[in-house]
Amino acid sequence: MWRQARDQLAAAGNASPVLDAKLLAQHALGLGALELAMRENEMVSADGAETLTRLVERRLTGESVARIIGEREFYGLPFRLNEATLEPRSETELLVEMAIAGLPERGHLLDLGTGSGCIPIAVLANRHDANATAVDLSSRALVAARENAERNRVNERLNLREGSWFEPLPKNGRFAVIASNPPYIASSVVDTLASEVKDFDPRLALDGGPDGLAPYRLIAAKAGAYLLPRGRLLLEIGYDQGVTVSQLLVDGGFVEVAIHQDLNGLDRVVSATI
Ligand SMILES: C[S@@+](CC[C@H](N)C(=O)[O-])C[C@H]1O[C@@H](n2cnc3c(N)ncnc32)[C@H](O)[C@@H]1O
Repeated sequence: MWRQARDQLAAAGNASPVLDAKLLAQHALGLGALELAMRENEMVSADGAETLTRLVERRLTGESVARIIGEREFYGLPFRLNEATLEPRSETELLVEMAIAGLPERGHLLDLGTGSGCIPIAVLANRHDANATAVDLSSRALVAARENAERNRVNERLNLREGSWFEPLPKNGRFAVIASNPPYIASSVVDTLASEVKDFDPRLALDGGPDGLAPYRLIAAKAGAYLLPRGRLLLEIGYDQGVTVSQLLVDGGFVEVAIHQDLNGLDRVVSATI
């Protein structure tokens, strides 16, 4: 069933042909992993074979398996993706862990640039006492975030708002923790990224302006006004942005500014307190 797909992918230099072929076959044929394993020597219907061929062709253009099947796992939970959502990255799980640990009892989290909703949904799924508000400029991304919140049964504690950064929030809104994984790639660099990223992740989710720092400047300047006393700001960063983003936060009046590394030893999150 899936071996021909594996051979095509392997011949094209795909790094994980067996896994990719099995996942695409499951999706094309509507089978679970166990069913695929039990029925792998059966003949595939003409329709199923044609669907699988089309999915393999898409994978060969560089589109990720998650984008093709419209779903991926993040922090152990399933997330639907659409054309407006960034594919959640495992590196972002560090930000989630820090938000889970940093939220006080019954604390309220704000997530700026929520995309699929992966950050607040993963936090709420692990902190049943907490609430969250999440903002995105893209109404289509919020459609996916809403669906993901329902699917992971946290929708009653997640308030989704459409607009730019702090704009859609009430002026008196105050949060215990503000988290964000904003777009942080310099505009000129976006087009040089791997095809899997630049051709399939939405530009709005990647492009951080001329030097990649525009969202950090805005968040550093405004976040203090939306945090409770001793509130925490958690920002995901590119591996080489730690020092610059830390300085922006110091300039914005934050204290206890610290840089945290991900499992690969790369700078990944800057935290600060107001
Ligand atoms: C790097 S993605 C992160 C998505 C998600 N939080 C994650 O970690 O996978 C940045 C997100 O910021 C959103 N965004 C871009 N500009 C924005 C703005 N001015 N206001 C609010 N959200 C914005 C994008 O639509 C995108 O969903």
